[in-house]
Amino acid sequence: MATVAKAPSQKAPEVRQTECFIGGRWTPSQSGKTFETLNPATEAVIAQVAEGDAADIDAAVKAARKAFEQGPWSKMDARDRGRLLYKLADLMEAELDELAALESLDNGKPIRDAKAADLPLAIDCLRYYAGYADKIHGQTIPVRGNYFTYTRREPVGVVGQIIPWNFPILMVAWKWGPALAAGCTIVMKPAEQTPLTCLRLARLAQKAGIPDGVINVVPGYGPTAGAALVKHPGVDKIAFTGSTEVGKIIMRDAAATMKRVTLELGGKSPNIVFDDCDLDAAVAGSHFGLYFNQGQCCCAGSRLFVQEKVHDKFVDKIVAMNKSRKLGDPLDMATEQGPQVDREQFDKIMGYIESGKKEGAGLLSGGNRFGDRGFYVEPTLFTGVSDDMTIAKEEIFGPVMSILKFKDLDEIAARANNTCYGLAAAIWTRDIQKAHTLAAKIRAGTVWINCYDVFDAAAPFGGFKMSGIGRELGEAALGSYTEHKTVTVSLG
Ligand code: NAI
Ligand code: MG
Repeated sequence: MATVAKAPSQKAPEVRQTECFIGGRWTPSQSGKTFETLNPATEAVIAQVAEGDAADIDAAVKAARKAFEQGPWSKMDARDRGRLLYKLADLMEAELDELAALESLDNGKPIRDAKAADLPLAIDCLRYYAGYADKIHGQTIPVRGNYFTYTRREPVGVVGQIIPWNFPILMVAWKWGPALAAGCTIVMKPAEQTPLTCLRLARLAQKAGIPDGVINVVPGYGPTAGAALVKHPGVDKIAFTGSTEVGKIIMRDAAATMKRVTLELGGKSPNIVFDDCDLDAAVAGSHFGLYFNQGQCCCAGSRLFVQEKVHDKFVDKIVAMNKSRKLGDPLDMATEQGPQVDREQFDKIMGYIESGKKEGAGLLSGGNRFGDRGFYVEPTLFTGVSDDMTIAKEEIFGPVMSILKFKDLDEIAARANNTCYGLAAAIWTRDIQKAHTLAAKIRAGTVWINCYDVFDAAAPFGGFKMSGIGRELGEAALGSYTEHKTVTVSLG
């Protein structure tokens, strides 16, 4: 089975921000309540964090509204907004090691991943949108009659942003980047499991010179602080990333005030391996596409279809990779897999493993808790999985790979699309006709060909069907942070 990584190569980072950040000031919650954030590797408490609620959300929305309508933000040139975003990115780069360690501590992800993926992607995202700030503009439009018509693209206003715990820093960047470039102001609620890096980034934003009230952060729980943000009449838009279940609640709660909503939700993404692929590349990419981030990825390739002829070889190689995978302290640079984020996720995953066994899938590796401290789950592999098994239908969000066999191209598009989700998919083959034909047939927002989890700030990401509404990243995301205004002038 998986091996234990040695002692941590990095000391635990210092926790400096634990309160609500409202109008540029750090304040305890109005109720005085706090909640614990845990280190998922040890189950020890890292810090007490202010537990924001409706009253704190209200104060934050007022601060954001004021900054939007009266503050320096509303008068600032777009290019200067861009400069502040560049500055924030630079400060993050200067603190990369410390931010990565804090992310690793609060979330449990291996620090090598935080350093190699989360931080560089987040910094790149902010720089991408920094460059966009002064390039958001309308059109002049020929209309009938003696009129001059032009459009303006104006910021949508005060935006509420609710993010999950799986990529805390990266989700901040995906949300703040386009919102700030567009000229919006923000109230963010980080996930209750991982509030620390978001609060740290709010401090860096202030240091960068982003005016007070432009970014507000209220830590707290979903049904209280989160729901208050979604229902608040002073909020113009909600951008949410998280479960499909909560996405539905948000749409419903946002309806009363006609808020704009963008939702980036769950998935059950098909990863399709044809027998004419580069097998080693497909094995490595599929392993990464499922086990990366402890399997806690909305786009995880969790329905892995492998064509009959290469099936057994493919499985053997995955088993070998799982055997040598290093589980251990996330702060150790050698660690490849850390714990799941919390007990709830751990229990949910163990429940799915039980259901896989009960429904007759073959357990080829893992299946157990790893160690006796922290929320670790062994890298787990099921084969002989059929389309109707629970583990093939529901989002597991853990290190559990399910391999389904397939015969030929004719059957695979229908099977790949036989899900309520449509976030991502991947295809492994050397046949370009097959690859592009299938890519067009798959009902998903992203299709990777001969690769997996390739993200770029410029490439839109989001879901078809129940995987969400709208797109993040790229030019697409800016569209959802702006309103089009049509101005028509009579020329007499
Ligand atoms: P969740 O959807 O409950 O939490 C995500 C965020 O929404 C958190 O900030 C939470 O506080 C907030 N929230 C919860 N209820 C809310 C409400 N009524 N109104 C407003 N905000 C609310 O996800 P959770 O419970 O952490 O994980 C459950 C499952 O969701 C996971 O097992 C996984 O399958 C999926 N998930 C998907 C993610 C994705 O990236 N698409 C990220 C996290 C979880
Ligand atoms: Mg929840």
